[in-house]
Amino acid sequence: VTKYIVADDGAGNSSLLAQSWRSNAVRWSRAVREAQIVSRKCVTDAAILNAILRHKPSNILDLGCGEGWLCRALASDVPYRVGIDASPELIALARAIGGADFATLCYTDLIANPLAAGSRFDIIVANFSLLDECTQDLFSALGHAAQSGERLVVQTVHPWNIDGEYRTGWRTERFESFGQEGWAPMPWFFRTLENWISALGETWRLERIEEPRMDEGSFPTSLIMTATKSWVSSRD
Ligand SMILES: C[S@@+](CC[C@H](N)C(=O)[O-])C[C@H]1O[C@@H](n2cnc3c(N)ncnc32)[C@H](O)[C@@H]1O
Repeated sequence: VTKYIVADDGAGNSSLLAQSWRSNAVRWSRAVREAQIVSRKCVTDAAILNAILRHKPSNILDLGCGEGWLCRALASDVPYRVGIDASPELIALARAIGGADFATLCYTDLIANPLAAGSRFDIIVANFSLLDECTQDLFSALGHAAQSGERLVVQTVHPWNIDGEYRTGWRTERFESFGQEGWAPMPWFFRTLENWISALGETWRLERIEEPRMDEGSFPTSLIMTATKSWVSSRD
């Protein structure tokens, strides 16, 4: 059990998760900006850009934007971009380069006020950033505030490509594959495929899933879910 759980309750894990992204901000930023993460370079960066750009959005909200690479990569195609992240250190690094309106906000803030980051986004995207237990509440809050036709695009590690028990719950990432010392361990909330789809709830209708991979026939690196604001809940 200790292999997967850092704290002994969800609130403890959420707080350690937030702390880890404050401690790891500079290391993470360097890893992203120096293209040290092979799966991103070879597969998942292009996959999320395609999943967004095929809809020709005019404005996007990037949830858990980190140091801001995705907003910057979209700058020439998407006129209006907002990135939010719980880590003030990562937001400072994002602002130092620019490329979007970046704000320090956490998902709990958005659950309390889903318009806190703005409204009328064509796409709300989360790239490997829904790591907390509150995702279902976040989807619900954002969904109730969304306009009909608004889309949610989520990229996550493929739930069938993770070691250990296939069970929704807290685990720990130690960043060992990054090969450097000094990373703060990160608790994260693993979800099975069934759990991801049920987390979309009634406000978001799953439109498409994609399974980006290195080569034809190899196991998928990630899972991308695209959902649209459901017509049913828009009449609530
Ligand atoms: C793996 S990084 C991904 C960053 C960025 N999306 C990217 O593609 O490089 C995860 C990000 O999610 C953010 N995050 C995690 N939990 C959060 C929360 N509850 N509220 C806001 N941001 C959160 C972290 O601060 C971190 O920047």
